[in-house]
Amino acid sequence: MSSSKGTRFRVLVLSGPNLAELGRREPEVYGTESYQTIMTELVAVARETCAVECVARQSNHEGQLIDWIASAAEDGFAGIVINPGALTHTSIALLDAVRGCALPCIEVHLSNPEAREAFRRRSYVGRACLGKVAGFGKESYLLGVRGLLAHLERTTTTKARHA
Ligand code: DQA
Repeated sequence: MSSSKGTRFRVLVLSGPNLAELGRREPEVYGTESYQTIMTELVAVARETCAVECVARQSNHEGQLIDWIASAAEDGFAGIVINPGALTHTSIALLDAVRGCALPCIEVHLSNPEAREAFRRRSYVGRACLGKVAGFGKESYLLGVRGLLAHLERTTTTKARHA
């Protein structure tokens, strides 16, 4: 499968509420690099090392995230990597959107929610995701892209074999 600019797959990388504040927001938990810096690096590294085209979007609004998820397949994305922020722990609407979008989805977090407050231990979105990467700071996004790519390569090859 080919995509634009010689890349193999297009991946939508979504970030939810308050993640635009990275670098300023609780740096002891989330690090000192800005959202922009992290995403610029992710886009470049994913293209160079995985031949994946990442398109990064962030919103503080649940409805906007749901709209992006709902149109992702139509918009030419092969899969989604999502850090839903606090909506991870509260949003059944986001869970339904991921379930309904028919694309493979990976949940990522900079911190490890399991090791934090009890209310962060539940993930609704995770119930519809292929897998989760948490606790590796900005690297969680890249690891999520790599996991998604492995899945896409596996399933694409399988389909091609059976074609
Ligand atoms: C987060 C973890 C969430 O619990 C929190 O609400 C966030 C960031 C993370 O990336 O570690 O906003 O998703």
